[in-house]
Amino acid sequence: MADSAAKVDEFKANAAKAAIELVKPGMRLGLGTGSTAYHFVEAVGGLVRNGLEVICVPTSEATHAHAEKLGIPLSSLDETPQLDLTVDGADEIDDQLRLIKGGGGALLREKIVATASDRMVVIADDSKVSKTLGSHPLPIEVVRFGLRATMRLIEALAAEAGCEGEIRLRPGQGDAPYVTDQGNLIVDCAFHKIPEPEVLAFAMKRVPGVVEHGLFLGLADIAIIGGADGVQAIHHPGA
Ligand code: A5P
Repeated sequence: MADSAAKVDEFKANAAKAAIELVKPGMRLGLGTGSTAYHFVEAVGGLVRNGLEVICVPTSEATHAHAEKLGIPLSSLDETPQLDLTVDGADEIDDQLRLIKGGGGALLREKIVATASDRMVVIADDSKVSKTLGSHPLPIEVVRFGLRATMRLIEALAAEAGCEGEIRLRPGQGDAPYVTDQGNLIVDCAFHKIPEPEVLAFAMKRVPGVVEHGLFLGLADIAIIGGADGVQAIHHPGA
């Protein structure tokens, strides 16, 4: 791992370590997906090995496999429909705690799990913080049926919401598209700037072929950000 990549990974691990302080015995936890959430899952695994009793709902097959390997007791939202806390990463975070998620393709399950949680805590390194969302392409999960028509409608409604840029189907293995845990596809929208995330989110929900978009608005309660000066918290403006 190059030096700077190792530093970024250390920042992610530090954010995860700070978030683990919020975990209490008996909690029902949502486990996020991605390289930052990975550190959190590892830390939960360590606590469980030392006798902590928690029950966890993973946000992806990858996190499920990771947590299972660590011996973390797992559940589903069918068995455990309300969670105390979800800890997850993000691709981009603004100062109002609005997020772009889905770079790892798990946005649908992540949003369902976060919404079922009393609290959502975001962990990230400081490269994820931005003034205006949009520098990370916005992932949108879509059904296969009518893909081209769905992409055209996303483009048209996004333009009305003040967002323009390349909209492309996420590639998978070989010539095949990327397929989510739910069997859907992802389109990545390189808008560069999303002036009004709420307006865009509302517009995307009007597209019948859209299953869910990667804008997480009003879901996160706190973001724990790791950087060169240690960890810092961004609180929700309403908190
Ligand atoms: C997974 O679908 C995503 O929402 C991730 O939470 C997000 O992409 C952050 O991932 P990293 O922690 O790997 O940057």
